[in-house]
Amino acid sequence: MTRPKPTMEEITALAKRRGFIFPSSEIYGGINGFWDYGPVGVELKRNVREAWWRDMVTLRDDVVGIETSLIMHPGVWRASGHVENFTDMMVDCKTCKKRFRADHLTSDQCPSCGNRTLTEPRAFNLMFRTYVGAMEDATSETYLRPETAQGMFVDFKLAYQAARKKPPFGLAQIGKAFRNEITPGNFIFRSREFELMELEFFVPPEPAEEGLRWHRYWVDERLRWWHSLGVQPERLRRHEYSGADLAHYSSATTDLEYDYPFGWGELEGIAHRGCYDLTQHVEASGKDLSFFDEESKAKYLPAVVEPALGVDRALLVFLIDAYEKEADRTVLRLHPRLAPYKVAVFPLVRNKPDIVELAAKIERSLRPVMRTVFDDSGNVGKRYYRQDEIGTPYCVTVDYDSLQNNDVTVRDRDSKAQVRVSIDKLEEHLRGQL
Ligand code: GAP
Repeated sequence: MTRPKPTMEEITALAKRRGFIFPSSEIYGGINGFWDYGPVGVELKRNVREAWWRDMVTLRDDVVGIETSLIMHPGVWRASGHVENFTDMMVDCKTCKKRFRADHLTSDQCPSCGNRTLTEPRAFNLMFRTYVGAMEDATSETYLRPETAQGMFVDFKLAYQAARKKPPFGLAQIGKAFRNEITPGNFIFRSREFELMELEFFVPPEPAEEGLRWHRYWVDERLRWWHSLGVQPERLRRHEYSGADLAHYSSATTDLEYDYPFGWGELEGIAHRGCYDLTQHVEASGKDLSFFDEESKAKYLPAVVEPALGVDRALLVFLIDAYEKEADRTVLRLHPRLAPYKVAVFPLVRNKPDIVELAAKIERSLRPVMRTVFDDSGNVGKRYYRQDEIGTPYCVTVDYDSLQNNDVTVRDRDSKAQVRVSIDKLEEHLRGQL
């Protein structure tokens, strides 16, 4: 059964209260489109990255990782088309001075003040400009990267030679990206600073059918990934682009969409980019980026299939999808791979040193093998409540009997079932569940 959808207010309130996500620079009134991750959020974010990296890179023999710089030569962004085309059409309201994306308007009335005083749409480039070095002039001007993909295209030759890979193979990268979005919003759904996880999968350009097959493969693979991490299948759907909606260089693009509290929206894009990017960089740089196959002596520029998603947007989906309000608690049914803490260890009481010491010893012994947290504040009921809200799959309580019998209570987040487990077998027991 699908869980009822939470509201965005419920998600943002929980995220702030429990230390997942805070507004950036809040004591100065915040800054629109920028967010900070708190102690629990940063663990969840690491797990999201790690789940992607493990499944897309570590467990595969046809993908290798790379990390390219956030600021690149400005020529990269001219060649990629970002300087000319990475724009949204915007309008300003002459009365209230607010700015809107033209494609978000439903009439000629200002959505904020209601006046019909909107300007004509103008193109607005989403890249953040910056200067490199001491001189602030046109020669030193460049941009914060709006995507990580271009780093992988310009390093394509160095990377495939170093990794001794031949198409079909992929380069994967996780890293920050910056876009001066006109209307950031819906919490971390659309931010101005966010993190991308991108895979550029290089395939021989011929036969064309083979590239399309790889595109379908990656759409299925990515959907499987979301399902494997517990996202409810009926909240995910494919959106296939066709005709004029397809970029001119793309022969197939599919978005995976999620049913957010504010409606269906993009979660991840899987684009067949053809040979567009490498061709652009060859032409602009004058460098040969083609792949040379030592065996067949074939030389070609590969085509690219690109699954790309935002870490923050993925994290938002995991939070929304896992959220469930029950009569007596709120629980995040996060997949154990994603849960910020795998196990919380409690002493039943704070005033019995033997119990507190044993609980602390158990928690320390588990630390090297799984992410743990020690909690001795409030009563056990309050601690369960807190751990349920941050999605901790297991809580271990050390009580009076533990001192006699060398065992503890292990409580399951989802079923609330409790079992007694011998301390000697605790690690093995938890590992078996996680
Ligand atoms: N290289 C391809 C590329 O960048 P994109 O569709 O512009 O494609 C990929 O972005 C993914 O990045 C999106 O599907 C979304 O998950 C995430 N994303 C894009 N813009 C974002 C923003 N302003 N804030 C948060 N996530 C964003």
